[in-house]
Amino acid sequence: MTKNQKLLDWVNEWAAICQPDNVYWCDGSEEENQRLMDEMVASGAAVKLDDKKRPGSYAFNSDPSDVARVENRTFICTTKKEDAGPTNNWMAPDEMKAEMLKSYKGCMKGRTMYVIPFSMGPLGSNIAKIGIELTDSAYVVTNMRIMTRMGKAVLDVLGDGEFIPCIHSVGAPLEAGQKDVRWPCASNIDDKFISHFPETNEIWSFGSGYGGNALLGKKCLALRIASSMAKREGWLAEHMLIMGITNPQGEKKYIAAAFPSACGKTNLAMLIPTIPGWKVETVGDDIAWMKFDENGVLRAINPEAGFFGVAPMTSDETNPNAMHSADKNSIFTNVGVTPDGDIWWEGIGWDCPAGTITWKDKVYDPASGDVVAHPNARFTAPAGQCPCIDPAWEDPAGVPISAILFGGRRPSTVPLVYQALSWNHGTFMGSIVGSEVTAAAIGLKAGVRRDPFAMLPFCGYNMGDYFGHWIKIGENAPDKSKLPMIFNVNWFRKSPEGKWLWPGYGENIRVLGWIIDRVMGKVDAVETPIGFVPKKEDINIDGLKGQAELMDELLAVDKNLWLDECELIAEHQAQFGASLPKELKEEYENLKARLQ
Ligand code: GTP
Ligand code: SPV
Ligand code: MN
Repeated sequence: MTKNQKLLDWVNEWAAICQPDNVYWCDGSEEENQRLMDEMVASGAAVKLDDKKRPGSYAFNSDPSDVARVENRTFICTTKKEDAGPTNNWMAPDEMKAEMLKSYKGCMKGRTMYVIPFSMGPLGSNIAKIGIELTDSAYVVTNMRIMTRMGKAVLDVLGDGEFIPCIHSVGAPLEAGQKDVRWPCASNIDDKFISHFPETNEIWSFGSGYGGNALLGKKCLALRIASSMAKREGWLAEHMLIMGITNPQGEKKYIAAAFPSACGKTNLAMLIPTIPGWKVETVGDDIAWMKFDENGVLRAINPEAGFFGVAPMTSDETNPNAMHSADKNSIFTNVGVTPDGDIWWEGIGWDCPAGTITWKDKVYDPASGDVVAHPNARFTAPAGQCPCIDPAWEDPAGVPISAILFGGRRPSTVPLVYQALSWNHGTFMGSIVGSEVTAAAIGLKAGVRRDPFAMLPFCGYNMGDYFGHWIKIGENAPDKSKLPMIFNVNWFRKSPEGKWLWPGYGENIRVLGWIIDRVMGKVDAVETPIGFVPKKEDINIDGLKGQAELMDELLAVDKNLWLDECELIAEHQAQFGASLPKELKEEYENLKARLQ
C-alpha cells in the first residue's frame, strides 16, 4: 500500500512490540467499513440499528469504567517539566516511554493491529497534517473513518513524507481461546495512559477505547500536538467551533467560539435561528486551526470530518441539524437501544419505549431511577450529512474570522454577553474562562473550575506560554485593524432560585445578532469595568415571553461579585508564576482598578 520506508519500518517495529495476530492496513472503503461492522455485530460488540430508521448505523456500549476522557491519566511529556506547565500532568519522555513499553509488550495478542492513515484537514491541503494511528480496536477504525479523512487516499498524498505517529491499544490482550468482552479496555484506571511527546510529535495511548482517549486525531493530534506546533510556527490550534452567520441584509460573517467540553459548541455551531431573516451555517463544532492569510485576515479551517457530539438533550427541538447529521451512517455510543432498533436518550424529545436496553445493557425500568444513556453518550456523524454544513467547510483556504467568543457555564457573575476592550483584554478574558464541571471527563470535582480558552485539558505545553502566544498573535498581526473582535458569552446564568435566565439554543441567535452588529459597527454599547455590555434594547427579545423582566439581571455587572471574582483570578494567575505574561497581570490590575 505504501513505499514510505519510515512508515513501513515503524509499523514493523510496533508489530514486534505489541505482537498482534495480524496487521491490517485500512483502505477506508465502504466495503471495509461494512466488514468491520459485521464482525463487531457478530461478536456482540455492536448492535445494528434498524435499516429503515437509522440506515448504516450501529450502537455500542462501553465498559462502565470507560466513558469519557481521563484527564488525570493524560500527560504532556517534555524534557523539562516547566515546558508542560502547572496545569498539565508531566513525565519525562524517556521515563514515560520506558513505563509504557512495558504495557505495550504483547498487548495486542489475540487481536488485529489496524494501521489507520488519516488526514486532519482537507486531503492534500497545505494546512492539513497526516497522522498514522495503530490501534487494536475496530471501533476506533470505524469512528476514525467518520471523524477524519481516512484510508488509502491519505497514503497516496503522504508518499515519502512525514507523518505524526499515533499508537493506541485498548490494553486487553487475549490468551489463546479466551473469549473477548464487548468493550475491552484496561480495567484499572492507573493502567491507562494518554501520553503526548510534543518535542517529537508522537502520541502514545493505552488502556481506553473511548472518544478523545482513543480517536487520536482529535484532542491528541489536532489540539495537544497541534497547539505546540502552532506555538512554534506562529498559528493557533483551538478548541473552537466555526460558524457562518448571515443577517437579514444578506451580509455573512464567520465566527469561532471556545467553550469547555459539553458547554454548547455543537449546539451553537448548527443552531436554527428563531428570529426571521437570519441564517447559520456550520464549518466545525469542536476544533479550529487558524492562520493569517497574505492579506492579514485570520482564517480558520476545521481539521475534522465528522461530529463526535454529546447525545443527551439533543433533540429535534434543541438541535435538529445534529439530529439529521446522525440520521444515517452514524455510530452511537452509550445510548439506549429501543426494541424496534432505534436509539433513545434523555431529552431526545419522545418517551422511552418499553423494553429499551440501557447503556448498561439492562432493560430500562422507569421505577429504578437509572438513566438510559450515559450523560457523556455520543453520536459520531459525518459532517457532510449536516443539513446546514457551510459551502466552504472543506475549503483549504479556510474562512475569515470576524469574531472570537469565549464562554462557559457560569450560574452567576458573568453577564449574557460582553465585549473585550482590546486584543490583550480579550486574551485576558480567554485566560479566565470558568465553567461548572460536566460529564465529558472522568473524576473531576463538581463546581466551577477555570478552563482558560476551554483548553485546560488540551494545551500541549505550558499554559502560561500559551497565553503569551495569544498576546504575540495580536502584537505580530500583519494588520491589527483586521484582528477579530473578542466576546464572552454565558447562556447558563441562573436566578437565585436556580432557573435559567436565558432560553439558550436557537434563541442564542439574538446574542449573535448583537455581536455581528458590533463587528459591523452598527450598534453602540455600554462601557462597564469588565468590557462593553449591550444596551438592553439592542438585544432582540421579540416573542420571548417573560424575557423582558429578566434582562436587567441577565446583563448585570455586579461590582462586588466581580471583586470576589478578582480574588479567584489572582489565585488562578498565581499558579503560572513567571510564565504569566506581564500583559495579563496588567489586564488584571486594570480590571480591579476599574471596579474600585
Ligand atoms: P464537546 O463535544 O464535549 O466539546 O461539547 P460541546 O461544547 O460541543 O457541547 P454540546 O453542544 O454538545 O452541549 C452540551 C450540553 O449542553 C448538551 O446537553 C446541551 O443540551 C447543553 N446546551 C447546549 N447549548 C445550550 C444552551 O444554549 N443553553 C442551555 N441551557 N444548555 C445548552
Ligand atoms: C470533549 O470532551 O471536549 C469532546 C469529546 O469533544 S472527546 O472527543 O472525548 O474529547
Ligand atoms: Mn470538545
